[in-house]
Amino acid sequence: MAEALNIQYVANVVDTKRIGCRFYYYPEIDSTNNQALLLGQQGASDGTVIIADYQLVGRGRANRQWVSSEKTNLLFSVILKPANNNPHEMTMLAAVAVHEVLSQILTASEVVIKWPNDILVDNQKICGILAETQTKGEQSSFIVVGIGLNINMSAEDIPENINRKITSLSICMGRGQVSREEVLVKVLYSLDKWYDKILTGSSIDLTSQYIQNSNLHGRLVSLQCGNEIIKGFVTHLDEQGKLWIRDEYGRTNGFVGGEILKIF
Ligand code: BTN
Repeated sequence: MAEALNIQYVANVVDTKRIGCRFYYYPEIDSTNNQALLLGQQGASDGTVIIADYQLVGRGRANRQWVSSEKTNLLFSVILKPANNNPHEMTMLAAVAVHEVLSQILTASEVVIKWPNDILVDNQKICGILAETQTKGEQSSFIVVGIGLNINMSAEDIPENINRKITSLSICMGRGQVSREEVLVKVLYSLDKWYDKILTGSSIDLTSQYIQNSNLHGRLVSLQCGNEIIKGFVTHLDEQGKLWIRDEYGRTNGFVGGEILKIF
């Protein structure tokens, strides 16, 4: 029987600069991103972590659901207050941090960042990231980065109606329970390290780390952006998280979102 997350242990162990300055733990909640948006509006500090053992309406990108069994995976959101307030850069931050931790654990597997917000292990999705800001009223003064990282999901737990290939850390490691607390601590430290680099003016390091570990650079891809499908070569990725594609007519355009349909 799965156990509740030991948030007290995590809070005692984490001694970072900003990420994890305060924890809010919920056995069950609608969505940690919703709760983080609420707490952000109430003035929660930079680096506050909101974590749950179960989400009733976990959200993914493009209005998709994020489904996860109780006490099985990591479902958390972080409130961030970078000066430039760029959610795409915060997506890159989370991707680089999770990638760093997973590639340290899964040394024998290919861990890759799939632009803009997924982490794949041997081509199967293990983590999704959803960065959001407030859309109403004054210009938003914080960003919420939600991370869903599959830890102890078993092959039988994977919902049948999900047609994409997904995996978890325990499946990849070929063993039973993996400590969610240990993985969370590692991710929080990595987030803190990279966030500190951004705040101290080293965004370039983050961008190059992201590019180095993503599977798109220089590749011919097709990208769905709204109703449009763009086919072309990825020329570069900029510090704002924009993916630049040169299409078959020689035009180069930058995209902050969309779905990579195919890498040729
Ligand atoms: C995606 O791949 O589409 C992004 C998924 C993000 C899921 C996480 S789980 C924690 C946080 N709360 C949510 O409702 N969503 C994010």
